Amino acid sequence: MILNSSFLSLFALVALFTHLSSTLAFPSYNSLAGLSEREINEVVPQLPHVLPPSPPGPLEFNGTKLVNDREHPWKPLRKGDIRGPCPGLNTLASHGYLPRNGVATPTQIIQAVQEGFNMDHAVARGIVYTSHLVDGNLVTDLLSIGGKTKKTGQDPPPPAIVGGLNTHSVFEGDASMTRGDYFFGDNHSFNQTLFDQFVDYSNRFGGGFYNLTVAAELRHRRIEESIATNPQFDFTSPRFFGAYGESTFPYTFFVDGRITNRTHAGLDMINATLFFRDSKFPYDFWRPPAPTAGTGLLEIFSAYPTAAGRNIDGVNTFTPDPTSADFSNICLLYTNFVNRTVKGLYPDPKGVLRRNLIINLGYLYDAFQAGATNCPEQFPYGTL
Ligand code: HEM
Ligand SMILES: *[C@@H]1O[C@H](CO)[C@@H](O)[C@H](O)[C@H]1NC(C)=O
Ligand SMILES: *[C@@H]1O[C@H](CO)[C@@H](O)[C@H](O)[C@H]1NC(C)=O
Ligand SMILES: *[C@@H]1O[C@H](CO)[C@@H](O)[C@H](O)[C@H]1NC(C)=O
Ligand SMILES: *[C@@H]1O[C@H](CO)[C@@H](O)[C@H](O)[C@H]1NC(C)=O
Ligand SMILES: *[C@@H]1O[C@H](CO)[C@@H](O)[C@H](O)[C@H]1NC(C)=O
Ligand SMILES: *[C@@H]1O[C@H](CO)[C@@H](O)[C@H](O)[C@H]1NC(C)=O
Ligand SMILES: *[C@@H]1O[C@H](CO)[C@@H](O)[C@H](O)[C@H]1NC(C)=O
Repeated sequence: MILNSSFLSLFALVALFTHLSSTLAFPSYNSLAGLSEREINEVVPQLPHVLPPSPPGPLEFNGTKLVNDREHPWKPLRKGDIRGPCPGLNTLASHGYLPRNGVATPTQIIQAVQEGFNMDHAVARGIVYTSHLVDGNLVTDLLSIGGKTKKTGQDPPPPAIVGGLNTHSVFEGDASMTRGDYFFGDNHSFNQTLFDQFVDYSNRFGGGFYNLTVAAELRHRRIEESIATNPQFDFTSPRFFGAYGESTFPYTFFVDGRITNRTHAGLDMINATLFFRDSKFPYDFWRPPAPTAGTGLLEIFSAYPTAAGRNIDGVNTFTPDPTSADFSNICLLYTNFVNRTVKGLYPDPKGVLRRNLIINLGYLYDAFQAGATNCPEQFPYGTL
């Protein structure tokens, strides 16, 4: 009898753990992209269903101010805190402008990049909803700023379904300045070797500062390295735009707000190390003097124009992809993202997932319209 009942409770325990582990395999911030219909049907009922709120507005006071202040002390990571490929978001989380565990809503991220770095309102909305649509959990309205991309040894690697800002080639991508390519088993940790190259380029082309001249040289260098070493190098939209945009961010956002002519002055290496390696504001750091997008993107591209494309058959087979958006067709950035990328990740969503896709796509379109020419809205999932 005793044996039998303990067998039964053992069975119950195993069943409970099996159930728990299938639940825990999909934390509330993990993306549902790439899951089968059966998996989605299993996971979605277990998650809180959140109606995505309208995005927050721009800053009321949009000038420079001290942001490394008493209310936002840097703190070291606790067990389980998530950090990812973006030194800007990592820093905001480590100073408490974002939840310190690294899991946030789109609203919180928009507010944090505006408050902490004075990022332009439309740009912030555009980047955040783009990221959320591919990397976030559209049912719970949560997004993690990290997550681990697992190297599987498969060739090509399967689409990342682990969530966080790591969905490969969609938002996260190759030829980063201080992170390795996905092909090399990249885990999005800071890479000291690559950062040494960042410093070397800043010394050679910027007199010890990362400015627009350095950005153009280093962007070119990182693209050449990926072409020559990564057989799966992918430099098509949206990564194409992200790569040039991010090259502007260090001198745009990491330079103290009391310094004028920032593209010229550039970022010094002590402060760069704090941001990139330690997710830390410099002591007495002030945010930029006005809302700003990355300035100089076109200059960086024009210094060494590279067509959007990919290595099609091993290293050194870089081939332009004429169907990718590029600087000559910004509208296509939006259209392909919606019609191909998002639709590819979510071919046939139902219920709350479909509703929230439609709502978030609407927020993305609003942001895109605010910054660009008239580009027709796409409705891959119809309307509500
Ligand atoms: C608005 C929300 C933002 C999101 C969702 C976001 C997300 C990302 C992601 C996914 C990457 C990795 C791309 C890659 O593979 O290289 C990245 C890179 C980067 N981000 Fe952000 N970011 C945001 C805002 C910012 C801000 C405000 C800053 C600066 C203050 C910043 C600075 C950077 C830099 C410098 C890189 C390049 C890192 C490198 O190449 O090594 N980001 N970001
Ligand atoms: C910054 O704030 C001022 C005062 O409210 C406003 O006139 C200006 O348009 C804002 N700048 C931007 C770029 O939003
Ligand atoms: C990620 O890379 C860092 C060094 O950049 C290394 O210390 C760490 O062990 C790696 N983690 C995984 C899970 O590969
Ligand atoms: C860092 O990047 C270099 C150059 O790409 C690479 O050789 C090295 O293996 C990377 N280190 C880690 C720990 O990923
Ligand atoms: C910034 O500095 C550079 C180099 O001194 C100069 O050519 C440029 O005109 C300056 N730009 C502004 C807006 O002051
Ligand atoms: C970057 O710094 C270098 C070294 O001081 C300078 O020659 C170059 O003109 C600067 N770039 C810009 C865009 O001001
Ligand atoms: C580093 O950051 C501090 C604080 O923002 C700033 O005062 C200083 O000018 C920066 N250092 C250099 C050399 O630019
Ligand atoms: C986007 O996809 C829809 C549905 O497949 C199609 O009707 C529309 O023409 C596409 N838009 C563009 C601009 O390709």
